[in-house]
Amino acid sequence: MNTEFEFDTAPDRHNSASSKWEKYGDRDVIPLWVADMDFRTAPCVIDTLSERVRHGIFGYTQPPKELPGVIVDAIERDFSWTIDPDWIVWMPSLVVGLNVVSRAFAETGEEILTAVPIYPPFLSAPRYADRVTVTAPLQERNGRWLWDFDALEQAVTKKTRTLLLCSPHNPTGRVWSRDELGALAAFCERHNLVLVSDEIHSGLILDRDKKQIPVASLGAVSERTVTLLSASKTFNLPGLGCAFAIVSDTQLRAKLQHTMRGIVHHVGALGYFATLAAYRDGKPWQLALLDYLRDNRDLVEARVSAMRGLCTWHVEATYLAWIDVRALPVKDAGRFFEEAGVGLYEGSLFDAPGFLRLNFACPRRLLTEALDRMQAAVERIS
Ligand SMILES: Cc1ncc(COP(=O)(O)O)c(C=O)c1O
Repeated sequence: MNTEFEFDTAPDRHNSASSKWEKYGDRDVIPLWVADMDFRTAPCVIDTLSERVRHGIFGYTQPPKELPGVIVDAIERDFSWTIDPDWIVWMPSLVVGLNVVSRAFAETGEEILTAVPIYPPFLSAPRYADRVTVTAPLQERNGRWLWDFDALEQAVTKKTRTLLLCSPHNPTGRVWSRDELGALAAFCERHNLVLVSDEIHSGLILDRDKKQIPVASLGAVSERTVTLLSASKTFNLPGLGCAFAIVSDTQLRAKLQHTMRGIVHHVGALGYFATLAAYRDGKPWQLALLDYLRDNRDLVEARVSAMRGLCTWHVEATYLAWIDVRALPVKDAGRFFEEAGVGLYEGSLFDAPGFLRLNFACPRRLLTEALDRMQAAVERIS
């Protein structure tokens, strides 16, 4: 266990304009909903940002010269995937990316396919662009969430242009295996779909025997793949607005850039410099974070599965636990837990009513307090 970094104590986020904490204002609700962490980012990121802030000039900024090379090296180091710096397309966030690809790779009225449950912008992005969101269910089998390829085959039509993949998966916490990704790649090739792979959680693999495999690293499928990435989940930087797409195919890349032109804002100076420091110097902090999250994950899995009416799954990656609350004898489980002092994310937003998502990226003392509140609430009605 790495003890160099501190995760047990964290700054008070009340009145810091945090979306996560402002949601409940002064109410005594522990916010475990939106996916950001209550930890300070890596010291190397804070140092780099401090230096940049002291410079004091925040004019128009391009990616620091060193950054593309640092990203290429980090992707080789972490995922054994060799990319070319020219494949990188900067954007301010992955949600922007999901909305841009919805416009770039399907025409009005055409279909974009994804599997549910899924992170809500996968469902809304096609709709915002007047494209049609088509869903197929994932299947839960023997305590694991799996792709249902029969359901995917039934859902795909002649109007389907794109498959949106979340890898690792929010909200089920699955790390997709080489076989599963290969089958998805074959599916996209068979139906001539652009494959958009949101890999924002790829730095958060908790299981030591699992490895993130970027789907675009599998071979020919790279020619139809747009990979969306960012250091923001792993290093807790979503407030800084820096993300990027990796697109090896020249035509796909040109289409993406054309769709963004004049509309998508460039990345800000602090976002670039934070990303540079995170990928270049942040590995020791990231490994310590993963140790801490692993213990939080084990705690959540043990405590939640012991609560009557609740069932959860092993979280292979991410800091998000997916909880089935359909057996809980209450009408609105989200509200029930909120009234008990714990704010969770509603499954209906993920196209899965009857489920809740719990973010366990916070100091263990706070997490334990939240789990105690949930348990006491469940016991009151059992
Ligand atoms: C799968 C996934 N994609 C994208 C995002 C958001 O990315 P961004 O903040 O860069 O828009 C999240 C945030 O939770 C996420 O879980």
